[in-house]
Amino acid sequence: MQNFRYYVPTEIYFGRGQICHLTDAIRRFGSRVLLVYGGGSIRKTGLYDVVLSQLRAGGVTVTELPGVDPNPRIETVRQGAALCRRHDIQVVLAVGGGSVIDCSKAVAAGARYDGDPWDLVLDHAKVRDALPVVSVLTIAATGSEMNGFAVISNLAVYAKQSIFSPLLVPKVSILDPEYTFTVPAYHTAAGTADIMSHLFELYFKKVEGAYLQPRLIEGLLKTCVHCGAKAVQTPDDYGARANLMWASTWAINGFLAAGFAGTWSCHAMEHPLSAYYDVAHGAGLAVITPVWMRHILGEKTVDLFAAYGRAVWDLPPEADPYDTARRAIDKTAAYFAQLGLPGTLRALGISEKDKFEEMAVKAVGRGLGTCYVPLHVRDVVDIHEAAY
Ligand code: NZQ
Ligand code: ZN
Repeated sequence: MQNFRYYVPTEIYFGRGQICHLTDAIRRFGSRVLLVYGGGSIRKTGLYDVVLSQLRAGGVTVTELPGVDPNPRIETVRQGAALCRRHDIQVVLAVGGGSVIDCSKAVAAGARYDGDPWDLVLDHAKVRDALPVVSVLTIAATGSEMNGFAVISNLAVYAKQSIFSPLLVPKVSILDPEYTFTVPAYHTAAGTADIMSHLFELYFKKVEGAYLQPRLIEGLLKTCVHCGAKAVQTPDDYGARANLMWASTWAINGFLAAGFAGTWSCHAMEHPLSAYYDVAHGAGLAVITPVWMRHILGEKTVDLFAAYGRAVWDLPPEADPYDTARRAIDKTAAYFAQLGLPGTLRALGISEKDKFEEMAVKAVGRGLGTCYVPLHVRDVVDIHEAAY
């Protein structure tokens, strides 16, 4: 196991009715809040009214930044940072999914930075201060509610990149699984694929002496397989939604990566897909992941895939570990299909191949050469071709 420091100071209120803690949480940081939300789901579900009435009753002054797009844009971040300065905002409140929380984090840092917020995406070291962020999560997927990442798109230059800073870790996050009952089946499925991808990115490598993390990851993957399907079938199944929500948080809050770090592959390949074609992150991952698995299956990884097949898919150990490994990968692809996710780039809406090389160069620029199984431009183009 590698050396590590682990410190993720997000206070979590989990469960039904926990929104009652919102005003107290906000008032710890001030009374002027920027309320950030997406394209309208929180207005439809009534959560917007609940949040506003709580804040008003607590004497909090609210400025709004609505309309955050999935794959949040740098333009919205600039707008939010300007609002924070104009209204002397003290705390940024995100109510929504990963896109809203990520946008809020970038706004929080942008508000305390004198230049263009895109500088912060290009150079994390420039994040030296940020307003506190509080989140109310409405979809299980990214884990943004308990980590320091914010993924921001600049579609003008086909860029989608993450900022990371401990300053961006939300101070408080409210996780009420009931808020996810209204998530459409497609986004529930995409969120499940995203959580599973965070776990795969960690799992398929070897770190000397690490035993605990792979076993925890197997348990979380099994939870996703079981609860993701249930949540798609029965949207108001509280147990499925609750387990999925907590799994999403723990998949990417640094705990599993502590002592077990490594370069991520599928995310490096998916972010260019979103930057060029604005696809849902989890859906892009569902297409790339099984193809990537087949691509990296070999002497270095076969026992990892076989272990995955046995632990997560209950496959019997075959005489030939390659058989178990291949069956495990087929099961993964079949599971995503069962959830209703696309299985090819064409099904994702990408009907041309002319950006493959460009996207591959961008993906490889994120350090794919240092992965457990290194990937080069040719590999990534081959993965795109096989996924087409
Ligand atoms: O915009 P609204 O109207 O809110 O609708 C959203 C959106 O259309 C809808 N939705 C969310 N909660 C809902 C709901 N609809 C009905 N009822 C609810 N309760 O779902 C759609 C998707 O929302 P979004 O926030 O985009 O989804 P997600 O949480 O998957 O976030 C995706 C973004 O996060 C980034 C992705 O790249 C992408 O930009 N990521 C962030 C990470 C992080 N911060 O650690 C890591 C991830 O790997 C990922 O890259
Ligand atoms: Zn992800």
